Amino acid sequence: MSRVRGSRLQEFLERKPRQDLRDVLGSNLVRLFFFQLFKAQTLHADPHPGNYLFDEDGTIGLVDFGCVKRLKPEVVRCYAQFWSREWVHDRALYAEIVRVLFKRESAAKDPKIRRGMDEIRRFYDEFHPLVEPAPVLEFVDGKFMDALMQLAKTLVTNRIISPEFLFLSRTESGMCNLLHVLGARVATTKIVRDFIPNYKR
Ligand SMILES: Nc1ncnc2c1ncn2[C@@H]1O[C@H](COP(=O)(O)OP(=O)(O)OP(=O)(O)O)[C@@H](O)[C@H]1O
Ligand SMILES: [Mg+2]
Repeated sequence: MSRVRGSRLQEFLERKPRQDLRDVLGSNLVRLFFFQLFKAQTLHADPHPGNYLFDEDGTIGLVDFGCVKRLKPEVVRCYAQFWSREWVHDRALYAEIVRVLFKRESAAKDPKIRRGMDEIRRFYDEFHPLVEPAPVLEFVDGKFMDALMQLAKTLVTNRIISPEFLFLSRTESGMCNLLHVLGARVATTKIVRDFIPNYKR
């Protein structure tokens, strides 16, 4: 085992880091998430703030690999769809997401699923819109966290959930919470382009 550099988020923030350093760390957190998802296809699935260490040079240390989830390629492919939104115009992709992420075999026309998918689309369209130049998302904005919580509530109430999807959304929400507390500004859709090869430009 090696010692990882950096401080826990609260100690780091007590030193009043400059906004540009918060933004660099924020971008690196988003890169770290996409790296795990699209390259390693394995998630550090314990997004407790104490498991991330923040360094003055913009480096993020990840510790405590007590909960790790390996992802099947089709799970990664379907989750990428939330970012690329090709499913909106492609029925086969929609059916694959329903089958792979929500574990529903013949429910592609289920109105609850459709409503859940529309909520997902609205959320990503509002906060991670596919426009050029890629907008900068202000994670400090409470509106973003409220919308994220609302989306999670809708999906759970309508039972649009599977173990894989739960791990993914828990990790993404954990990261968003860190970005919110950090007060980072991140061009999320610019970063995702480096990771999704067939991302629509
Ligand atoms: N390799 C490491 N390098 C530097 N610091 C570490 C390392 N491993 C753990 N730590 C520090 O020790 C703390 C607790 O370690 P770890 O997360 O592995 O244990 P834990 O039992 O899960 O504790 P917690 O409930 O706080 O997450 C971490 O939050 C981190 O600050
Ligand atoms: Mg821990």
